[in-house]
Amino acid sequence: MLIFDRQVALREHLESISGSKTTIGLVPTMGALHQGHLSLLGESLKNNTFSVVSIFVNPTQFNNADDLAKYPRTLALDVEKIKSISDKVIVFAPGVTDLYVNGTISQHFDFEGLECQMEGKFRAGHFDGVGTIVKRLFEIVKPSKAYFGEKDFQQLQIVKKMVEKHQLPVKIVGCAIFREPNGLAMSSRNERLSSKERQEAGILYQILQEAKVKFVTKSAGLISKWVSHELEKQPNFKLEYFQIADETTLLPCIRKSEFKKYRAFIAVFVNNIRLIDTISLN
Ligand code: PAJ
Repeated sequence: MLIFDRQVALREHLESISGSKTTIGLVPTMGALHQGHLSLLGESLKNNTFSVVSIFVNPTQFNNADDLAKYPRTLALDVEKIKSISDKVIVFAPGVTDLYVNGTISQHFDFEGLECQMEGKFRAGHFDGVGTIVKRLFEIVKPSKAYFGEKDFQQLQIVKKMVEKHQLPVKIVGCAIFREPNGLAMSSRNERLSSKERQEAGILYQILQEAKVKFVTKSAGLISKWVSHELEKQPNFKLEYFQIADETTLLPCIRKSEFKKYRAFIAVFVNNIRLIDTISLN
C-alpha cells in the first residue's frame, strides 16, 4: 500500500496513474479510523479506479486547543485497518507544514448562512477551517468524487455549497451514518468515553428516533422541550443544542411545511467529550 506524506510526491504519483478513463475517489479523514470511515472508503472503492484516504488532524478547524491536543493520532493502526479492506488504497498523511505553507491560518468562506447554524454557533471558525482544508485536498488530489458522512450533516451541506460556489470539478457523495450496536453514532471521540458512558450514550439515538415519531404530530418547539427534559434526567450528559432544521437551508423549523425535508440535530457533552448526531425526520 502506498503512503505519501508530501503533497508533491502524491501529485506526481496520481498524475502517473491517471488516464482519460480513470476516476479518483477521495475520503478525507482526521484518522483514528473506525467502521464509519471505512464504510465511506467501501463506497469509494466500489465506484472509482483509485481511492485516496487522507489522514490529517486539521488544526484550523479546532476552536479548542485541548480538543486538538487530545485528538487521537493512530497512523500505524489506521494503515492496518485500511489494508484489511484493500491494499490498493493510497494513503495521504501529510504534516501540518506540508499543507499549511504560510502558517496555520484558514481562508474565510461565505457559505450563505449554513455556517451560522448549530456547529457554527458553538465552534467559531470551525467551518472556515473545514472549507480551507477540504478545498486544499481537492486541489491536490483532484478527485472525481469525494465521500462525506451524514454524521456531520452540516459539514456535508457546507462542502456541497463550497463546490457549487467555487465550481470545483468534484461530485460530493453523502454516506449513511454507521452506528455502534447500541445506536451510538461511531466517532473517533467515542474512544475517550468510559465503557459505562459509551453504553449510556446510546440514549442519544433513542431520543432522536423518538423525536422522529413525535414529529408526525408535534411541533419542533414542543419536541425541543421534551428533549431538554429527557437529557436533564441524565446527570452525565449536558445538552449543548437540539435543533430541528430544514435540510437544505439548515434554518430552524418554526412552522412545518409538507414540501420541506427536515432533520433533527443534537450535540451533547459527556464529561468533556462532545458528541453529535442527526436523523432525517420526514
Ligand atoms: P472525521 O471526523 O475523521 O470524519 C471523516 C469523515 O467520516 C467525515 O465525512 C465524517 O462525516 C465521516 N464519518 C464520521 N463518523 C461517521 C459515521 N459514524 N458514519 C459515517 N460516516 C462517518 O470530518 C472530518 O474528519 C473533518 O472535518 C474533515 C472532513 C476530514 C476535514 O478535516
